[in-house]
Amino acid sequence: MSVPPVVPAPASITAVDAAPFRIDGETALVGGPDATAELAAIIRVRTGLDLQTAEAADDAGDAIEVRVEPGGAAESYRIVADAASIIVTGADDAGLFYGIHTLAQLITATGEGWVVPAVDIDDAPRFAYRGVMLDVARHFHPVGTVQAFIDRAASLKFNVLHLHLTDDQGWRVHLTSRPLLTAAASSSSVGGDPGGFYTQDDYREIVRYAASRHMTVVPEIDMPGHTHAVGLAYPELVEDPVLSEQVRQTVREFGGELPQAGRPYDGLAVGFSSLRIHDEATYDFVADVFGEVARLTPGPYLHLGGDEALGTSREDFDLFVSRASGIIADLGRTPVAWHEAGSAKNLADSTVGQYWGFVSPTDGMDEQARAFVANGGQLILSPADATYLDMKYPSGHERGLAWAKGPTSVERAYSWEPSDVITGIDDADILGVEAALWTELVRTPDDIDVMAFPRIAAVAEAAWSPPTGTSDLRTWPSFRERVGALGPLWSSLGIRFHPSDEIPWAAS
Ligand code: ACM
Repeated sequence: MSVPPVVPAPASITAVDAAPFRIDGETALVGGPDATAELAAIIRVRTGLDLQTAEAADDAGDAIEVRVEPGGAAESYRIVADAASIIVTGADDAGLFYGIHTLAQLITATGEGWVVPAVDIDDAPRFAYRGVMLDVARHFHPVGTVQAFIDRAASLKFNVLHLHLTDDQGWRVHLTSRPLLTAAASSSSVGGDPGGFYTQDDYREIVRYAASRHMTVVPEIDMPGHTHAVGLAYPELVEDPVLSEQVRQTVREFGGELPQAGRPYDGLAVGFSSLRIHDEATYDFVADVFGEVARLTPGPYLHLGGDEALGTSREDFDLFVSRASGIIADLGRTPVAWHEAGSAKNLADSTVGQYWGFVSPTDGMDEQARAFVANGGQLILSPADATYLDMKYPSGHERGLAWAKGPTSVERAYSWEPSDVITGIDDADILGVEAALWTELVRTPDDIDVMAFPRIAAVAEAAWSPPTGTSDLRTWPSFRERVGALGPLWSSLGIRFHPSDEIPWAAS
């Protein structure tokens, strides 16, 4: 008997040889108000049924019961469904939320109405950190778009929203200690599109909304490169652009102007800007920025960037990231940095590294990643040729970049195993997995959907599910069937997914 389709694949799922549970207008939803409201909302979207909720069961009819039952692993849940009832228990509120979203995937249309197959699921995450990154710097995306992205990601059991808040093209969060950043450097986006920024209330609302979907916000302030926008506000802190052959080549390929000091940059080149490394005013700036971002952010992580600082000498880069990580550690937070920072000698202890090389590492990037572990930190894995959602698809949709071995198929996004990426690194060294949506070419909510879905579901499975090779479920043939079954749910949620021809999409 085949098991019902669930993505990400649960740790344990057993099809039960029994009649399904039928959902109709009489079905009662029983449990606490938050959980029953969540369940009622998703059932309404999927089926059109408006079901009654109650704190306690009466014996009148069939019920779906949702409750927290402490004792299991963090974020774990259990679903037991048969013809008479469905019981969803979470070890905590997050686990119950994930159980409810798994249940939503199990609801199917049949000739006789809506059913949930008889099933027994016992599920818990593999990794504690399951991230999605949204770049709001290359194109600004307003609060409502970010909230929709949170809803989509949380339904796939992602629990971290990494916001790439600053880059050469714009500064997107207002800081009262440095008000010129948003006053002078937020109005541009790539390609001459409008910019924008989050007020502090906007940012707090994103943090609050994310928490309501069991997601933690990790803000990234990218330094010492990717800082051209800082120079629009505080020219004394930034070096003149370094116009390398790589920068010129990008301008030839994608158009736009070469970067110029004091002028907003709206092109696609990277690696030309740098903060002034040997000026104490720079570290006053870093302390102001991270101090204020820390006050706005309840989560444990602050991301300092550190990627593609090609306009900074290696020695200066090492000095800078060491000091910046120390400033973050002194705030009582855990620094996170892209893998390039791993080679710095005096990085703050336990700094987390984010690996963005390929699934098969090149150019010593694995060495840089291992250095974080030697320094007492863990790794977040974002192999660019699998998890970068801004890469082109092989067919059916034109948008996207290609530098990370693109086009990137859904199969490639799926077919990698986290513990195999960096030799010598195993699960204990891996904090988690993150999908990244860079937005040079991603302008609208529909662009976000089409680039993310369905590949984001493949990354969700790498982050949540047991390792590849441990069951028939963790295989590409299984995944493509299971993700295909989600099409109708995604459509009912308004997700404009890419109807990739790699996937057998279900009709209803
Ligand atoms: C990156 O893709 N520059 C982290």
